[in-house]
Amino acid sequence: MSLREGKPTYRFASCMNHLPVSFLDELFRISAVPGLISFAGGLPDASFFDLEGIKAAADRVFQEQGKNALQYTTTDGYLPLREEISKRYKRRLGLDINPDEIQIVNGSQQSLDLVAKILTNPGDTILIERPGYLGAIEAFSFYRPRFSGINPDKEGPDIEILKTRLFEDNPVFFYGIPNSQNPSGLTWSDKRRREVAEILSDTSCLFYEDDAFGELFFDGKPRQPVMRYNPEKTMLSGSFSKIIAPGLRTGWIRAPPEVLTAFNRAKQAADLHSNLFSQMILTEYIQTHDIDKNSRQMATEYEKRCKIMTDLVKDLLPDTIDHTRPVGGMFMMLTLPDSMHSMEVFHKGIKRGVAVMPGIPFYTDDGGCRTIRLNFSASSEEQIKTGMERLSKVFE
Ligand SMILES: Cc1ncc(COP(=O)(O)O)c(C=O)c1O
Repeated sequence: MSLREGKPTYRFASCMNHLPVSFLDELFRISAVPGLISFAGGLPDASFFDLEGIKAAADRVFQEQGKNALQYTTTDGYLPLREEISKRYKRRLGLDINPDEIQIVNGSQQSLDLVAKILTNPGDTILIERPGYLGAIEAFSFYRPRFSGINPDKEGPDIEILKTRLFEDNPVFFYGIPNSQNPSGLTWSDKRRREVAEILSDTSCLFYEDDAFGELFFDGKPRQPVMRYNPEKTMLSGSFSKIIAPGLRTGWIRAPPEVLTAFNRAKQAADLHSNLFSQMILTEYIQTHDIDKNSRQMATEYEKRCKIMTDLVKDLLPDTIDHTRPVGGMFMMLTLPDSMHSMEVFHKGIKRGVAVMPGIPFYTDDGGCRTIRLNFSASSEEQIKTGMERLSKVFE
């Protein structure tokens, strides 16, 4: 139909037909319900955002480098910020990562999009943990891959399944979150990290290591990334979202040189560069504050909330419900018995004034009917107690 006949017609790219159904609209709609306690989202606790400190850093950038901060810059990102990231890897993990190996991105979510863009042809296989991060599934889906899910065991992705998929499916990359996974809250053992690194050596498959939560371990001890054991096969992404503030939209990716060059071209075409003002504020902030101290405080508070939630799962919910035992991060996962459906729990929860995240959007197949993700970072102790009491009524 033409414009003249009254209604415009829109022709969308066929990739739009391959996107998973978005659950976020539903979540935004229900979060308007007055008095609702939500364990469904994934926000850090905003009370940890250092308003004074970030404001002072912004003022200094404006006064001292205002015009530069408002100018265009290079795609790879502000060098002093990449140097700070490099120094932090050395200090925290003993890793030698040159600033030239790092590309700044507009939140690590952008890395998900650009990595899939440069590596994936329609129909190529992407391996992903099962369940996997919803935002990654959404970002990758635009490139029309075939997903292949790897179930976890206690130590991380099941190594036998991984081996089989690597050799049978010839995947372009494997996406995983070894530290406090979203949605399950599971952390891979060091042994499993080494095993994954080793088996990738014999393949052309890259590993995309998403480290969104590595600085939020409750015991404060950093875990070595898979990248340490196989830097040539690993892309490692990080972010300031969970440890400083997500609104600054600043993350990074470290990748082998050839991959980084391709990534840089895709980034240039996408947005020229990330917000320079944000990058300069962060650099100033990192140079004048002990950001490790802030993330330690955050992790300590999240540990408390996680413990309260875990105890209440045991005390208030039926024994037939199993749960993960996170050692860091912001999420835990419940597994329901066969008689219950996660969507039913979701809808009944809303009626009782508590929102949980059904597992379905975290699966690239028909899984997720028996799993529920709970977020413990964004609710106070009081809210967790009230919310869990409301949730227990759903199971009565
Ligand atoms: C596992 C994981 N990766 C990436 C992101 C994206 O974070 P950002 O773009 O703010 O760095 C998130 C956000 O919650 C996440 O949970």
